[in-house]
Amino acid sequence: MSCRLPTSIIPTHYALTYSQINLSAPYSFHGKATISLSINGDSIDGDSGGNYASQKVGNSVTLHCLELNISSATLSDANGVSMDAVSLNFSKTNETCTIVFPSVLPSGSGAVLDIMFEGNLNDQMRGLYRSTYKGLDGEVKTMACTQFEATDARRAFPCWDEPAMKATFQLTCSIPQTPGFEAVAISNTPVSSTSTYLLGSSKWRKYIFETTPKMSTYLAALVIGEFDVVSATSPKTSIQTSVYTVPGKGSQGVFCLDTAGRALDFLEATYGVKYPLTKSDLLAIPDFAAGAMENWGCVTYREAKILTDTGTSLEMRKGIARTVCHELAHQWFGNLTTMEWWNALFLNEGFARYMEFIAVDNLFPEWGIWDEFVGGVFVLALGLDAMDNSHPIEVDVNHPDEINSIFDSISYAKGASLIRMLANWLGEDVFMEGIRKYLSKFGFKNAKSSDLWGTLGEHSGKDVVRMMEMWTKVMGFPVICVGKDGKVTQEKFRAGGRMGKAPAESKWKIPIVFEDGEAMVMGVGEDDKVAKKISSGKGAKLNKGQVGFYRVNYAEDMWATLAGRMGVGGMSNTDRLGLVSDVFAMAKGGYQPVSVALDFVKDMGGIEAEDEFVVWQEVCERLIELAGVYKGEEFEDDYKKFVKSVVGKQWEMIGWEKKEAEKANKGSMRGVLLSAMAASGDEGVKKEALRLFNEYYAGGKEIAADIRKVVYKLAVSKDEDSVMPKMRALYLKTSFPEEQRNLMMAMGACKGGGIWRDTIEWALWSGEVKKQDAVYPLSTLGGGGKGEMAFEYFKENFERLKETFTGPIWGAVVFMCCRGVKEIEGVVAYFEDKDVGGAKRRLDQAVEGGRLRLDRVKRDREVLKDFWC
Ligand code: BES
Ligand code: ZN
Repeated sequence: MSCRLPTSIIPTHYALTYSQINLSAPYSFHGKATISLSINGDSIDGDSGGNYASQKVGNSVTLHCLELNISSATLSDANGVSMDAVSLNFSKTNETCTIVFPSVLPSGSGAVLDIMFEGNLNDQMRGLYRSTYKGLDGEVKTMACTQFEATDARRAFPCWDEPAMKATFQLTCSIPQTPGFEAVAISNTPVSSTSTYLLGSSKWRKYIFETTPKMSTYLAALVIGEFDVVSATSPKTSIQTSVYTVPGKGSQGVFCLDTAGRALDFLEATYGVKYPLTKSDLLAIPDFAAGAMENWGCVTYREAKILTDTGTSLEMRKGIARTVCHELAHQWFGNLTTMEWWNALFLNEGFARYMEFIAVDNLFPEWGIWDEFVGGVFVLALGLDAMDNSHPIEVDVNHPDEINSIFDSISYAKGASLIRMLANWLGEDVFMEGIRKYLSKFGFKNAKSSDLWGTLGEHSGKDVVRMMEMWTKVMGFPVICVGKDGKVTQEKFRAGGRMGKAPAESKWKIPIVFEDGEAMVMGVGEDDKVAKKISSGKGAKLNKGQVGFYRVNYAEDMWATLAGRMGVGGMSNTDRLGLVSDVFAMAKGGYQPVSVALDFVKDMGGIEAEDEFVVWQEVCERLIELAGVYKGEEFEDDYKKFVKSVVGKQWEMIGWEKKEAEKANKGSMRGVLLSAMAASGDEGVKKEALRLFNEYYAGGKEIAADIRKVVYKLAVSKDEDSVMPKMRALYLKTSFPEEQRNLMMAMGACKGGGIWRDTIEWALWSGEVKKQDAVYPLSTLGGGGKGEMAFEYFKENFERLKETFTGPIWGAVVFMCCRGVKEIEGVVAYFEDKDVGGAKRRLDQAVEGGRLRLDRVKRDREVLKDFWC
């Protein structure tokens, strides 16, 4: 099914008027779309005739429209002669409406389509929807906002809802003004005028916005409500940036305001193209499905993704800076130049993820944020892409469910990792100059990935198309195997181990950088050179800086040699992190016995770790993951002892208390080590966490921001019956999003006494917890070794959960509730006759992960039998 609109009729301008948006029951909106058309006229960008069904114009027009009533449709030609529609044919599957007219439509430009429509402000966090919050007077207030990406503009107005159908937009809306609630309206462009009038006895205010530049429908935005606002003007761009929050939270927007202003200046200089709009707004929305959305000039955020107070952890602050930079990076890359179709989503998201790091590193050099790229982005991508249920980064998608399913770690993390690899291969300056060319060439237009590779290739003189082809078109990535004899080969890496006996055929072009900085490309006839370099010993560790998107499997004795170098200086954090990540991945896939991985880290504990947060984070995460896998095994206790022997000394050195003048990342390191200590079964840390929690609850000492998340979890795991009710009380008391999130996540760390069901029911259905936070307890339960319980609950409530949670949240629920189940085939059987909608791929990934876990336990049991003594 193609699902694509014909391109014989395309819109050039939308005049959109919402004559009424009701912020109280029945929460309806009434609108009129006046759409200027080009009929059989210009073709759209990037349409070479292959993708778009070309279709002769007859007497009908088909456009997207979903959950809207259309009361009339009229088409006027250039001379003002008009005809009314004779019928409307809605297609639920295609999410379209075909409007049929009495005669053939006039060719050329100048025709205008008028559509009167109405719809409801839904509570599904998509389209034009409503969000609620507690006002300063304690009453529940309603606001409205939009979330259109990827395919939900069609829920707010009838439109050609495809990224290449760019048009200009001029928006007008009328909103109610009630005493004590004087709502304002915010959109992509500044307000050009407002006026108030009476409708019966009620007062309304009409907002007219300036016309936007040519842009895609998914970037249009409208937000209506009462706000606190803080503003500042960027020194270089002179653009005004404003942060809007619900009343009372204005001061929480100061950090992101400052970050956004500086980021805008930096990005404009980096892109070499002027910021295309005249203002830049950030809006904190209480109910928000994604993390943030890059609407042009009107970026919306989940509150937790931008608001800070004095108790905000460093981890969160970094996250906020990254999010702000990510969305601002899209203002050019994505908004000014847009992918031609969703199959190239990775261009948008991968590039924005990469730019997050470039920008944050410039704004906050003291954070060393690139260190976190490898642990947080690169490794995540390798993990998912090693699965048989991964997908090529460029993938054919048509139906909205398919489109939504690729907003995943492949598009984001693999996309960003490949872009980083490419930038490194071309040289970062050359790469960025190429990007500048690309943006100026394709501004206000659409582009395909080949356009980007083409521009970069022309600029650099290197064959970028050839280099990138295999990486983007084929799923997965290579593992380079370094044999005892120095022989090097590449094959596809699989989380489940080698395919059959013979290594699979592989032909990736792999840019390799050796430890001494020398670079070569494997897979283009330089393989012998690579082998020579390795046997000379001068190359030692491959993949300097973990820049190439591949793993390395060294021969067993080489792993031992490399382990010996983990403590001494010389190797960077990212290189050491990369080795840890690779050796555990080899163990997971059966490329090496698990003993090689455990041996690799066993002596790390004694080394005083200074700036090595990211290395220890990787070590701890891998050890914690295995603790989950080995739960219930005969050797569980032996394994726990081993974990303690690795992390115990580090934990002792770092301790509970922040030392004076300690480095910024020490706080995060403390949190990570504490989690690992808990996984080692240490009761002492749990007891102390419970004590800290109770002391805090009783009004005593605050818990340090960097370890609060972990302390909450440990407190629940120690004594859920007493802690859970207190957590609920804290949740209801705080309006601070990080705290709300920490609390909800911690609630899933329960053992499953009587109280877990109460808690989960409360979270999901009481209405006291925001929809976006409501699934945390259930999700963390499933991910935290209580897979069976999460799945049982999921089965009992399948229909209700599916109805309540949509989009990415639904995908996450399915994944989290299924991935921890031991009887994984039971999960498969359960879903045989169920429709999981957009969560299909997530489900397949959960099942694959479950099967892999069973396989590896079997394998590891053998290996570990005599490992401990
Ligand atoms: N374009 C996305 C928002 C989005 C995500 C829309 C999924 C539709 C479906 C935005 O630029 C984005 O990437 N947001 C991230 C936040 C991240 C930068 C921290 C998200 O929502 O996870
Ligand atoms: Zn993005």
